[in-house]
Order: sequence, then structure tokens, then C-alpha cells
Amino acid sequence: MNASLFRLIYISRNEISGDEATLNREIDQILASSRVKNPIENITGALMFNAGCFAQVLEGSHNEIQNTFERIQCDPRHSHVVVLAFEPTSERSFSNWSMAYFGTNSNAAAKFGDIANKAGFDPSLLEGDRIFDLLKEHLIEAESASHRKQ
Ligand SMILES: Cc1cc2nc3c(=O)[nH]c(=O)nc-3n(C[C@H](O)[C@H](O)[C@H](O)COP(=O)(O)O)c2cc1C
Repeated sequence: MNASLFRLIYISRNEISGDEATLNREIDQILASSRVKNPIENITGALMFNAGCFAQVLEGSHNEIQNTFERIQCDPRHSHVVVLAFEPTSERSFSNWSMAYFGTNSNAAAKFGDIANKAGFDPSLLEGDRIFDLLKEHLIEAESASHRKQ
């Protein structure tokens, strides 16, 4: 067990408005920042987007997750950020990814939409473990090889 390794899982509400091109541009920017900054902080993880909301898993040391998450929380492109889990973990599940991405066309995001709808977007009814399992199961469909670590 790597005592210093942690995993944070949160969900948030999308605040990016506009047409699909605007949305894609903003998400590309988020992923570009993640690709530059996460390796510096030794953070790996996955981001999922489904029209109304985001879910993200961050893996790394406690301090480095906190630094990154503080920045993410202040980002006006989303709101209602709710942490579902922040706990020690024995290994990284997204070790090859500075930030794996699951977009609206992915099966993972479709299932995430179903789960979120059933829960009425009530965070207390959404389980971090389910979101985490969903991302792990669907890792093969993560988009954009460029977000793999070099
Ligand atoms: C849903 C979401 C997820 C994000 N994930 C990350 C991330 O994993 N790493 C990161 O550095 N920035 C991430 N960002 C972007 C940061 O909020 C921030 O814009 C970026 O790091 C640039 O920060 P700076 O302007 O302080 O340099 C995310 C933003 C959003 C809205």
C-alpha cells in the first residue's frame, strides 16, 4: 500500500453555454491545461462530461491533489462542485493518463447520465465508487491519445 497516494472524485454542474463549437473549444482548453499541469504535480486521472455535468477522478499525493483541486474549484466553467470521495488508495487506475477524457458520445458518459438522472442530480444519492468503476470499466474508450502521458 502506497500510504501517500490518494484519490479524489467529484461531480459538478456545467456552466459552459453556447453552441457545440464553443463547448468543444472550452473542453479542449481544460484538457490542454491538464496535460501541461498534471504531470508537474504528478497527478493522473479521468474527466467525464455529459451535457449537464462533469465527473472527475484525480489521483496523486494529498497535497498535490489539493493544489490542483483548489484551482479547479474556482473555475467558472462549472459550479456546485461536490466531493464524493477523497481517500487513500493502493494504486493508480489511470496511471497512463494525465487526464483521460470521456465525452458526450462515450458509453461511460451515457451511463453517467442515467445514474445522475435517477439520482435527480442529488449528490447525496450519487456514489463516488460507481462513477469510479464506470470510468475504469470504460477506459478503453477514453478519447484523445494526446492526453496520454508521453
Ligand atoms: C471540470 C474541470 C476540470 C479541470 N481539470 C483540470 C485538471 O485536471 N488539471 C488542471 O490543471 N486544470 C484543470 N482544469 C482547469 C483549471 O480549472 C484551470 O483553468 C487551469 O488549471 C489553469 O489554471 P490557471 O489559470 O490558474 O493557470 C479543469 C477545469 C474544469 C472546469
